[in-house]
Amino acid sequence: MEKLRDNNTIAFKELGFDKEDKTEITKALNEALCSYQIFFHKLQKFHWNVKGGDFFDIHEITEELYTKGLENIDEIAERIRVFGDYPKSNLSQYLANSIISESSEKESPEEMIHIVLGDLEKMMECFLNIHGAAVSSGDIGTSYMISKMMKDFETDHWKLKSFAYKS
Ligand SMILES: [Fe+2]
Repeated sequence: MEKLRDNNTIAFKELGFDKEDKTEITKALNEALCSYQIFFHKLQKFHWNVKGGDFFDIHEITEELYTKGLENIDEIAERIRVFGDYPKSNLSQYLANSIISESSEKESPEEMIHIVLGDLEKMMECFLNIHGAAVSSGDIGTSYMISKMMKDFETDHWKLKSFAYKS
């Protein structure tokens, strides 16, 4: 945020949303972070365990999604630190605060694709919550960060849906 100094030059000021707004933003960011961690591990599980005719497709798309996930998770966590708050970082916290659940033991390739589609939708719900909190506080930085992720997820969702309903 910027503020005019006495001599009319611009002075830098740390992100200065009021405490209530800040808490709303970092709470939404932490929920997305926890959900993304569960999603990340599920993607790895599917990457490792998929079998059958769609092996290479599912093996590759899950790797693409979890590799991107590593970067996004880091960006979300560091955004929480920008506000002076702390990202949740224990496995028990991820499970307790995620809106995405862990998978059962053995899914078919078709089930894997539909689970990933549903999880992408849940992640986009998290992004919408973050965006809503950021916009109502004039937080352009968070809004920009999450808009990029949203657009990317929408493309992934379209591709995966086209793959799921190929026949
Ligand atoms: Fe691999």
